[in-house]
Amino acid sequence: MLAQKLAVVTGAARGIGLAVARDLAASGCVVLMVGRSAETIDHAARQLRDGGADVLPHVADVTDASAVAALAARLRREFGRTDILVNNAGVFLEPHDFALPKAASVFTVDPELVAATYACNALAPLRLIQALVPLLRESAGGRIVNVSSGMGQLTRMDGSWPGYRMSKAALNALTRLTAKELEGSALKINAVCPGWCRTDMGGPDAVRTADEGARGIVWAALLPDDGPSGGFFRDGQPIDW
Ligand SMILES: NC(=O)c1ccc[n+]([C@@H]2O[C@H](COP(=O)([O-])OP(=O)(O)OC[C@H]3O[C@@H](n4cnc5c(N)ncnc54)[C@H](OP(=O)(O)O)[C@@H]3O)[C@@H](O)[C@H]2O)c1
Repeated sequence: MLAQKLAVVTGAARGIGLAVARDLAASGCVVLMVGRSAETIDHAARQLRDGGADVLPHVADVTDASAVAALAARLRREFGRTDILVNNAGVFLEPHDFALPKAASVFTVDPELVAATYACNALAPLRLIQALVPLLRESAGGRIVNVSSGMGQLTRMDGSWPGYRMSKAALNALTRLTAKELEGSALKINAVCPGWCRTDMGGPDAVRTADEGARGIVWAALLPDDGPSGGFFRDGQPIDW
C-alpha cells in the first residue's frame, strides 16, 4: 500500500496544471499527471522526475468516457485508492482578446462551441468525480478541487464569453451539489479560482504567473480535516459565487 498521498491532476502537461503537479509532488504526494497527448504529458512528467518529483504520466482525454473509466481502473489496480483529484483541464474556445469583448457575444456564439466548452469544463469534472469518488472514499481524507474562474461568478457576471462563463458557473454548481452529497463523509470538495495567470489560456498580459495561480489550488488539495468544503476560494480566501 502506497505510503504517500496519491494525487491526480488533469491538464498537467502545461500551465497551471503543471505547476500544481510539481508543487503537490514537492509536498510529498505521488502525482498521476493526466494529459491528452502522450508526447506532451510524457515530456512534462520526465521534466518533473528529472527534478526529483515522484510523478507518473497518464494519457486521457477527459471528455472521453472510456478514457476516464480506464484512468479509474488503473488507479484501482495500481494504488487501490486516490487521495486528491484536481479537475484542472479546461478550455476557453471563444476568441479571448480581453480588449475585444464584443468578439464573443451571447448573440453570435456558436452553440456547438458552447457545448464543446461544457464537455471539457463541466461534464468532464462530473464524469471524473463519478469515476473517482469510490477511490477517494478509500482515502483517510479525500480532496477534490475544481479549478474554476472568477468569470463563472454569478455575482459578477458580465457580458461576453458566454461559453466559458456558463461552463465555469456550471462547474461551481457541480461543486456545491457534490459537497452537499458528501456531507458527513471525510471527503471535501471546493472550487478555486487561480486568478488571471500568464499561460497559453491567460495570455501574456495576465497579472500572475502559473506558479502563483497554482498556490491556492494546492492549498485546497491539502486541506486539513477541519478545513472547509463546498466553498469557492482564491488565494485561500472565500469569494462570492
Ligand atoms: N490562465 C488563467 O488566467 C485562468 C484563470 C482562471 C481559471 N483558469 C483555469 O485554470 C485551468 C488551467 O488553465 P491554464 O491557464 O493552465 O490553461 P492552458 O495553459 O490552456 O492549459 C490547459 C490544460 O488543459 C488540458 N486539456 C484541455 N482539454 C483537455 C482534455 N479534453 N483532456 C485532457 N486535458 C485537456 C490541456 O492539454 P493539452 O496540452 O493537450 O491541450 C492543457 O494541459 C483551466 O481550468 C482554466 O479554465 C485559468
